[in-house]
Amino acid sequence: MKGAIVLLGLVVVGALVGAVAASAGVVRRPVVPAMFVLGDSTLDVGNNNHLPGKDVPRANQPFYGVDFPGRAIATGRFSNGYNIADFIAKYLGFEKSPLAYLVLKSRNYLIPSALTRGVSYASAGAGILDSTSAEISIPLSKQVRYFAATKAEMEAAVGRGNVSRLLAHSFFLLGVGSNDLFQSTATTQGDVIALYTALISNYTAAITDLYGMGARKFGFISVSPLGCVPAVRVLNATGACNDAMNQIAMGFTATLKSALAGLAPKLPGLVYSLGDSFAALETTFSNPQAAGYENADSACCGSGRLGAEGGYCTRNSKLCTDHDAYVYWDWIHSTQRAAELGAQALFNEGPAQVTAPISFGQLAHER
Ligand SMILES: *[C@@H]1O[C@H](CO)[C@@H](O)[C@H](O)[C@H]1NC(C)=O
Ligand SMILES: *[C@@H]1O[C@H](CO)[C@@H](O)[C@H](O)[C@H]1NC(C)=O
Ligand SMILES: *[C@@H]1O[C@H](CO)[C@@H](O)[C@H](O)[C@H]1NC(C)=O
Repeated sequence: MKGAIVLLGLVVVGALVGAVAASAGVVRRPVVPAMFVLGDSTLDVGNNNHLPGKDVPRANQPFYGVDFPGRAIATGRFSNGYNIADFIAKYLGFEKSPLAYLVLKSRNYLIPSALTRGVSYASAGAGILDSTSAEISIPLSKQVRYFAATKAEMEAAVGRGNVSRLLAHSFFLLGVGSNDLFQSTATTQGDVIALYTALISNYTAAITDLYGMGARKFGFISVSPLGCVPAVRVLNATGACNDAMNQIAMGFTATLKSALAGLAPKLPGLVYSLGDSFAALETTFSNPQAAGYENADSACCGSGRLGAEGGYCTRNSKLCTDHDAYVYWDWIHSTQRAAELGAQALFNEGPAQVTAPISFGQLAHER
């Protein structure tokens, strides 16, 4: 797809009607021993704050974090508060997302965290392909290498058997691919298919590597309607979603779905859940009010038309009044509220289920 802007992440949000078992009540003990997170800006909790270079996308200044629970500070999350990794972690019984790998390294706390809660390797801008923003982020292949290094240190601390048991029961959350699609220049059908092939080949390699190191439970978040983020809508005079971009994203989700169905039987013991962001967002975009929003097309924090003409959220941005009433916090990423609803959708079961073949909750309880 053409277009001059480089976008560095996406939003995964969901509308949810009905009861959500996962969000009810206080979970006393996590249902999995640890959570390991790999992906892009939708999941980043501060890795990029520790990457050098002026072009690295970082959410390390106001008004990011303005609603962060407990203390209103920018943590590196591309949100006004928690992101979807935090809510998934909460529904699994943790306080929030595990801390960022580079933060843990800098505090000399990697192994205690890895053994009790997990580690996040997610990095804003990251792609499945190394060629996608590798110089300004930690691409997926490098996140996998960081996990391998973590595992080696864990084994040195508590032995192989203990680590193998821990990893087999841990929740591996993966959400990546949007940046590859945003930055692609594919125009013909042939180009798009070649892109899917390259992406699936490398995604499969990463999953297989993680499996080889002992990971068994995989929760995937597919790419969401990229054509509907304010940064893309603003390019259209009417503010409409870019259908072509959505088609490319939807096609990737379908390709990933069949690739996972083909891969799982080859990796005995692997269990997974794939969350379909398009399904989760259907109600939101067709009827924002019914989904609990006043606004589903503009950035709450931004400037100009749709809050999307000035780029990322900064301390000079204009803020909307009711942050929870917006789907989008900045020109690409969801608000804390939308992340919460999106995470709930991933745990939802029944007619409104957006995951296949099982929900995130069922995945967590496997074996
Ligand atoms: C694809 O994955 C392999 C194996 O992880 C990696 O070495 C390679 O750099 C990746 N290629 C691209 C284009 O990202
Ligand atoms: C590893 O597990 C064994 C038995 O399950 C336990 O006795 C041992 O203390 C563990 N090792 C460490 C270093 O925690
Ligand atoms: C803007 O969106 C409308 C509605 O989807 C579409 O028909 C039109 O082609 C778009 N314009 C541009 C310049 O993309």
